[in-house]
Amino acid sequence: MAAPHPFSTQLIAWQKVAGRHDLPWQKTRDPYRIWLSEIMLQQTQVATVIPYYLRFLASFPDVGALAAAPIEAVIAHWAGLGYYARARNLHRCAGQIVAVYGKKWPESEELLAELPGIGRSTAAAIAAFAFGRRAAILDGNVKRVLCRHFGVAGLPGTAAVHRQLWTLAESLLPAHGIEAYTQGLMDLGATLCTRSRPRCADCPVAAGCLAKRDSRQGELPERRPKAAVPRRRASFVLISDGRRLLLERRPPLGLWGGLLVPPEGEPAAVAARCGLALGEAQALPPLEHAFTHFRLTLEPVLCRVDGQTLAAEPGLEWVDLATAAEAGVPAPIGKLIRQVASAAD
Ligand code: ADE
Repeated sequence: MAAPHPFSTQLIAWQKVAGRHDLPWQKTRDPYRIWLSEIMLQQTQVATVIPYYLRFLASFPDVGALAAAPIEAVIAHWAGLGYYARARNLHRCAGQIVAVYGKKWPESEELLAELPGIGRSTAAAIAAFAFGRRAAILDGNVKRVLCRHFGVAGLPGTAAVHRQLWTLAESLLPAHGIEAYTQGLMDLGATLCTRSRPRCADCPVAAGCLAKRDSRQGELPERRPKAAVPRRRASFVLISDGRRLLLERRPPLGLWGGLLVPPEGEPAAVAARCGLALGEAQALPPLEHAFTHFRLTLEPVLCRVDGQTLAAEPGLEWVDLATAAEAGVPAPIGKLIRQVASAAD
């Protein structure tokens, strides 16, 4: 077997003394817990994920419990994390682990990658952490580390560079210590080899880094020129009697499907739909939110109502204003509600 690459040896040694060891999904080999963490950590930072992860496990402690739960309950636990396709795939994947595998997870990265929501890199992370398999990860952070260290030019999104990076990632895999190596790559990308202002002085592999040698950390990885993102706008009416807020459950498909949000539309149309006489409308500052394929400007309007009873309209719920931001709403809606709730205090 070829001698291990100094990159891998140094990374493992560094991870053991300076890496992260106390994240809630470490110190377990349970593939369910590892899989859940890896799905939550796609697109989302560790600090945001931790409370969601703990709440999710308290409600769905194993794959059988998750598969048996209604999708609405799963979405409610995901509310605020964003990228809700992840929650739908999570539920479908749990169903397959029960139905196809009798609750026993497959161990190979190839079989794991066939499951809903698990791409090649996530499959490798699960296979490495749960089963000690020598499998290569290549998420956005790892691409940045490899492009810099090995001076890989070209856009990582193009097929040729992507192939080159996978080949490189596989060639670096150590014979032993795959768990520390994989965690070390993640730790390096998240804490030192960051997109802006990398902390090269603390980097365990700085001596061999081509980007550092040539002062090209700011140029690698190459970035695609930003495509113009379509912009959309939507009005939301925050209807409150001072104590409660009116929320509406969105239909299961489409944007924020299954989540609770204030009724969308202009105040007059919302009033007619909800069967309410609304008081004066007060425009609140707009809020921008970036989705994968567009930017949304939320235009909130606050309407007071005086202790009206609501005819039993399907899908509408009065929610206590003080806790509405935590009641299964998307993150930008939670932000809006907190502003209204603190103004009402
Ligand atoms: N990002 C993706 N997977 C991770 C993990 N296991 N630990 C920390 N950050 C991660």
